[in-house]
Amino acid sequence: MVQNVATRMAELEEGDFHLLSGIEHGMRFSRWVAAGKLPEFSRLDPGEIDHRIDRCMDRELLERKTIQYTGYRLTFEGYDALALRTFAERETVEGVGAPLGVGKESDVYEARSFQPLALKYHREGYTNFREVRKEREYTADKEHRSWLYTARKAAEREHEALESLYPAVSVPRPIDQNRHAVVMERIDGVELSRAKLEPEQVRGVLDLVLTEMAAAYRAGYVHADMSEYNVFVASDGVTVFDWPQAVPTDHENSRELLERDVENLVGHFEQTYPGETPELDQRRLVDSIVADSFEGVRAVGS
Ligand SMILES: Nc1ncnc2c1ncn2[C@@H]1O[C@H](COP(=O)(O)OP(=O)(O)OP(=O)(O)O)[C@@H](O)[C@H]1O
Ligand SMILES: [Mg+2]
Repeated sequence: MVQNVATRMAELEEGDFHLLSGIEHGMRFSRWVAAGKLPEFSRLDPGEIDHRIDRCMDRELLERKTIQYTGYRLTFEGYDALALRTFAERETVEGVGAPLGVGKESDVYEARSFQPLALKYHREGYTNFREVRKEREYTADKEHRSWLYTARKAAEREHEALESLYPAVSVPRPIDQNRHAVVMERIDGVELSRAKLEPEQVRGVLDLVLTEMAAAYRAGYVHADMSEYNVFVASDGVTVFDWPQAVPTDHENSRELLERDVENLVGHFEQTYPGETPELDQRRLVDSIVADSFEGVRAVGS
């Protein structure tokens, strides 16, 4: 069922968004935003703030912690609400519906506007605190980095990759991006991991995915997380999705990552369809992708 953003957002008032975005701002400087800072960050009257906090706490958009001081931070639902409001204002999303996929690092929902859409909220850093630490290490300044930053960077990287790849490569068409969220075309199909290919389809589907990987390389990217979980198969072809970790082809590890992508994909076919998967010389295969001379699995058989 598609829920209308307007109805869902109608529950939240302008002042609630002021509070949420004030806390978002404060989280750039500290993990928990001190209650005393809220009038400044949210530009709300101190008298109004308590009321707004209650409303947002009731809706689980905020968390509170009291140790030396009382502090607040956004939950991911709170951050989701801010991004969704931006999409609604820009009229890129009209309604949000059922979950399409819940991963370790993202939540994807069906969404609607002039076409069926997928709304992907990145959760990197929220679910994996090691990521946050890593992100901090290579941040030159000493500024605190929250998961908001890590997740937003992932969404920006994914959207940028999709914009560079579409339409030369079969990827979901990118529609919009804000904060930790990406809006893209919704793909109808079944994940390769769940597809039950007929024996006579196996070689052709493998060929199609490798052809997309070659096209992506030509467009300047290696996916770097290729697996049977990140490919949709449909009657009209394949679509490769989930691009936040993609690396440019001039990255120092791009060859290694391409080799791993090829190995993961071919490995899946060998394991699932041992009788039908052609024997491939993976080195020649990778060489041909890098040299932009890939002409199908037939040419790189061993
Ligand atoms: N454009 C889309 N159209 C339809 N469904 C999608 C789309 N993008 C993602 N999904 C669904 O959501 C699920 C998760 O998406 P995605 O693979 O992009 O992120 P993720 O799996 O959470 O990342 P990770 O691989 O790190 O766990 C997919 O398996 C797929 O079922
Ligand atoms: Mg995935």
